[in-house]
Amino acid sequence: MPLPFIAEFFWVGIPGLPSAWTTLKGLVAIAIISAVKWLCIGATNTSERKLHSKVVMITGGTSGIGAAIALDLAKRGAQLVLLVRQSPKDLFLIDYIEDLRERSGNELIYAEQVDLSSLHSIRLFATKWIDNAPPRRLDMIILCGSTLTPPGKPRVLTEEGLEKSWMVNYLANFHLLSILSPAIRAQPPDRDVRIIFATCSSYITSPAIGDGSDALTTKDWTPAKAYARSKLALLIFGQAFQKHLDAYKRPDGIPMTARVIFVDPGYCRTPGMRRWLTRGSLWGLAVYLVFWQNIWLLLKSPEGGAQSFLYATMEATLGRGSGGKLIKECRELEFARNVKDEDAAKKLWQGSEKLIEEVEKREAVKRALRKKEKESEKAQQPAEVPSKSGTATSDTKKNASKSRKQRKTK
Ligand SMILES: NC(=O)c1ccc[n+]([C@@H]2O[C@H](COP(=O)([O-])OP(=O)(O)OC[C@H]3O[C@@H](n4cnc5c(N)ncnc54)[C@H](OP(=O)(O)O)[C@@H]3O)[C@@H](O)[C@H]2O)c1
Repeated sequence: MPLPFIAEFFWVGIPGLPSAWTTLKGLVAIAIISAVKWLCIGATNTSERKLHSKVVMITGGTSGIGAAIALDLAKRGAQLVLLVRQSPKDLFLIDYIEDLRERSGNELIYAEQVDLSSLHSIRLFATKWIDNAPPRRLDMIILCGSTLTPPGKPRVLTEEGLEKSWMVNYLANFHLLSILSPAIRAQPPDRDVRIIFATCSSYITSPAIGDGSDALTTKDWTPAKAYARSKLALLIFGQAFQKHLDAYKRPDGIPMTARVIFVDPGYCRTPGMRRWLTRGSLWGLAVYLVFWQNIWLLLKSPEGGAQSFLYATMEATLGRGSGGKLIKECRELEFARNVKDEDAAKKLWQGSEKLIEEVEKREAVKRALRKKEKESEKAQQPAEVPSKSGTATSDTKKNASKSRKQRKTK
């Protein structure tokens, strides 16, 4: 009985239902789509670690992958310090933190204003942090903040005159970690400190870094090259920073327990990726929406992208042995390009220090001049008030006669 029924279903079909061939084609299509989706979702983190009482500093925690990491870590009880560009009084930021606290059931989340496009803003925050005595607890620094100029858009300079991708993606991290280095080295020897850098496979295609004292020249600059170069510089610096930490001789003689880990999240549907795909334009957004199902199929969700970061924060084996490892799809990978060249790292480090020193000096002079101008403007204001000798400007004379009239009418 069932066999003739199945045969009839395949060869004739069931009245009112699509033919067996159509059904089969539909099933095959669903199977292919499911397989592609399954492949593109990527690996899921299975490592666990108790995060209660751990202090985690995170950049880029307000959007995309960084926001997904922040939510997961907050749910696990970590104390989060979000480094954000907005002022802590910003209403959207207040709302975002309230929401994060509510969704995670964790009140230990707060924000510090650190504009990654400003060396001055980074210095203000980092010096305040290291000024704490005794040194503040710091278990992890997750560096997810980044920027990406959409293709076809012009080269953007920060207010301090630095190319934006170079500044936000590389120099900001260099500056932040250089200042925070004493606070990292001062952590007790039994603390497993992890410094996690977000990287991207685009570094493989990057042009040469040079001495890093400047971003790409206008002639050579393209958004893709600038982004790739900033990511390659970050990898080279990260390796050098690990060496810098390892070289530190602790007073107690115990080896350094802070480790650098690089994480490549894979391609994800984040606001940053959307800006890139839509070229930051409305027509681009329209095309993006039309092809949204393809984007959904091929790209990971921000939560999917966060998995390798969560693995880097929690995997026990990463808290042992040497640092400087690359994690992708929740496993260790080899670098596809030499990022451990000591000469290149030395040149980059010295060039970056020189660039920062120049810019900070120049900006300090500008700030001092602005302050002076403001002070002299203020100093001029009291001159308009009647002096002791009784002389007054025409305005103050007018005001005085006006108030006399008012007193008379009363
Ligand atoms: N998405 C991908 O497919 C992909 C692939 C490979 C690697 N990655 C890397 O993964 C990381 C996260 O990527 P994503 O796509 O999730 O990024 P995203 O959505 O573009 O978010 C970038 C984050 O950086 C912050 N940020 C940007 N400029 C800043 C500034 N001047 N000061 C302070 N914060 C600033 C943003 O803050 P606001 O919220 O205030 O804008 C935001 O929180 C990045 O390092 C990226 O390079 C991403």
